Amino acid sequence: MEIPDVASINIEGRPEMFDFEGVSMTNFFTDNWENVKNFQARPDDILIATYPKAGTTWVSYILDLLYFGSADLEHQTSQPIYMRVPFLESCFQNFPSGAEMADNLKTSPRLIKTHLPVQLVPKSFWEQNSRVVYVGRNAKDNAVSYFHFDRMNMVQPEPGDWNYFLQRFMEGKNVFGSWFDHVSGWWEKKQTYSNLLYLFYEDMIEDTGREVERLCSFLGLSTSAQEREKITKGVHFDSMKQNKVTNHATIPFMDFKISPFMRKGKVGDWKTLFTVAQNEEFDEVYKQKMKNTTVKFRTDI
Ligand code: A3P
Repeated sequence: MEIPDVASINIEGRPEMFDFEGVSMTNFFTDNWENVKNFQARPDDILIATYPKAGTTWVSYILDLLYFGSADLEHQTSQPIYMRVPFLESCFQNFPSGAEMADNLKTSPRLIKTHLPVQLVPKSFWEQNSRVVYVGRNAKDNAVSYFHFDRMNMVQPEPGDWNYFLQRFMEGKNVFGSWFDHVSGWWEKKQTYSNLLYLFYEDMIEDTGREVERLCSFLGLSTSAQEREKITKGVHFDSMKQNKVTNHATIPFMDFKISPFMRKGKVGDWKTLFTVAQNEEFDEVYKQKMKNTTVKFRTDI
């Protein structure tokens, strides 16, 4: 399939958010719903699932390098990651939908990205017993990262000021719904679906090499220590920020003057935005919303 340039994507102002099966969404992720719902997964597919801004691009690139890094050097340096790892539910005008791009992927395995909460994932992934890599990130850093992303990304709803955004985040009114439901829903799934690896952004920051090794063992890859070390270096924040495969610099609807896509890549950056009062309120809401799940996040390392 001839893939048009992202420059051809047509955006007419920021989208509205609406309720879709109990989850806040925009038309960019629901317009192709019949095809998403009926997507035919394969047993060797690898689904990369995250709440937005939890480290999707990072883990996508790690998997891309693990599988295709040494084999396909030219491809590796020319095609951005969002072409190599289709975003399943995405649907933008003048651009192939994520489902279509995934259908047309020639690679094996196919790496496919989704931000869907677990209950909306096409059922064929479960039927085919496809492997799933989920990445969770602590709510505070995730919220801050999402706020800056919505500021600079014109295909996202207008975030308002930080206080407004944070209130909406606590209410679960962001695109792809509630962070609380997302991370705990996927955590519950892991208890019954053994082909799911649940990673934490904070662990990846603490020791990327260890998490790459964990990924290899989950995927049954016998990647050498030397190769793993090379990959670990190549996926460092500074490298990915310079790398046009991963830095999203050519996406026309992202305004890097407002905020870069590869922004800070830290644990604890939430302290730069949360006031003491906001932090106290957030902790209360957090306790309430997370009282029925055992998943635990670190807001500092
Ligand atoms: P910040 O905005 O906090 O910097 P996603 O890929 O899901 O959209 O997530 C983006 C977030 O992951 C951004 O967080 C981005 O900087 C961070 N990120 C991307 N690559 C990273 C890397 N190699 N190391 C650390 N953080 C990374």
